[in-house]
Amino acid sequence: MELRKGLEDIAIKETSITFIDGELGRLYYRGYSIFDLASFSNFEEVAYLIWYGKLPTRHELDDFKSRLAEERSISDEIASLVKRTAKTANPMDVLRTSVSMMGLEDKDDGELITKSMKITAKIPTIISSIQRTRANLDVIEPDPSLSHSENFLYMLHGSKPSRERSRMLDVGLMLHIDHEMNASTMACLVVASTLSDIYSSIVAGISALKGPLHGGANSEALRQFMEIGSQENVEKYVLNRLSSGQRLMGFGHRIYKSLDPRAKIIKDYLSKVSKDEETQRLFDIATKVEEIGIRILGKRGIYPNVDFYSGLLFHFLGFDLDLFPTIFASARVIGWSAHVDEYLKDNKLIRPKAIYVGDLGKKYVPIDER
Ligand code: CMC
Repeated sequence: MELRKGLEDIAIKETSITFIDGELGRLYYRGYSIFDLASFSNFEEVAYLIWYGKLPTRHELDDFKSRLAEERSISDEIASLVKRTAKTANPMDVLRTSVSMMGLEDKDDGELITKSMKITAKIPTIISSIQRTRANLDVIEPDPSLSHSENFLYMLHGSKPSRERSRMLDVGLMLHIDHEMNASTMACLVVASTLSDIYSSIVAGISALKGPLHGGANSEALRQFMEIGSQENVEKYVLNRLSSGQRLMGFGHRIYKSLDPRAKIIKDYLSKVSKDEETQRLFDIATKVEEIGIRILGKRGIYPNVDFYSGLLFHFLGFDLDLFPTIFASARVIGWSAHVDEYLKDNKLIRPKAIYVGDLGKKYVPIDER
């Protein structure tokens, strides 16, 4: 039996959701290039595309948007859980527990995608409640007349965002909707393959996404830029970090051996938008880290990934640093549930093997004789 650490290069299902060309740095959702979707589409349309496999007509999109908007409110119990924990707990733990409570509250025999829509609609309400509660501000109720991204920023800041800002969040969310068989999607499938429920799968996905090697890397990448402080310090910092055996956060990917197209799209947006002084300084540091990082690591196929620039984008939009992984989760719920739905159409219990390397035939010694 062959041992494949980290299940590297093992396919566990066929999919028609997402294709990644890691050599060329290309990403396709349902056959559409991420570059086209980021230029011409929007969050709700891409969510529909991922779940239903086709682009919606105008009527289908309008209907879908209003169904999503109707589901944004959270129960009093979840609102009170968020209030009690927001100031002290890790936001990913608050989100994980809130989704678990949604599962307790949902008594419908609804379809998997309908339940996933409810979760997707409610997560921004939870995230903005966490940030506002911590800042001792009143929590803002969702506004169903606004798009998903406009409403997200409205609930966060208490005022309607500019078109430019809501577009930037929309693009940032679109880029995170799916990414084939990553660690968190795999975690969702493991749970789903036992024929458990979708809430349990999503809780597993959030748990896997939390770690710094996966969705936690966006906060870590920004923390890195803040720690560097100025462009002059970049070279020394990167060299020190790598020579002491630490990883450059936001660099490297199991599949991409060239620049992650999502990093390119966010960087292009950030370079064009007019930035406040602090964001400009962090952006200049980031581009310098990118340049030096590629000079050192590029020959080994280690390039910036989505998390390298997404933290900067979320920071620019006014989200607290430790909330970044929750924003990632808010979009990835769509990919997680679409993969679960696809997998269950031809389910096979996920049960790999381990190669036993311990002893056999040991003699049991009673406790008083040890
Ligand atoms: N900085 C320095 N060296 C690196 C990095 C990095 N960011 N990433 C990989 N390497 C080196 C690693 O040290 C190892 O070297 P050696 O062969 O000499 O031991 C080699 O590259 C292979 O690393 P690996 O960990 O075996 O490869 P992997 O495919 O399992 O790693 C990864 C993928 C994302 C875990 C890794 O690149 C990493 O830790 N990156 C930093 C964290 C990060 O940015 N994560 C976000 C991932 S993308 C978005 C997401 O999924 O959330």
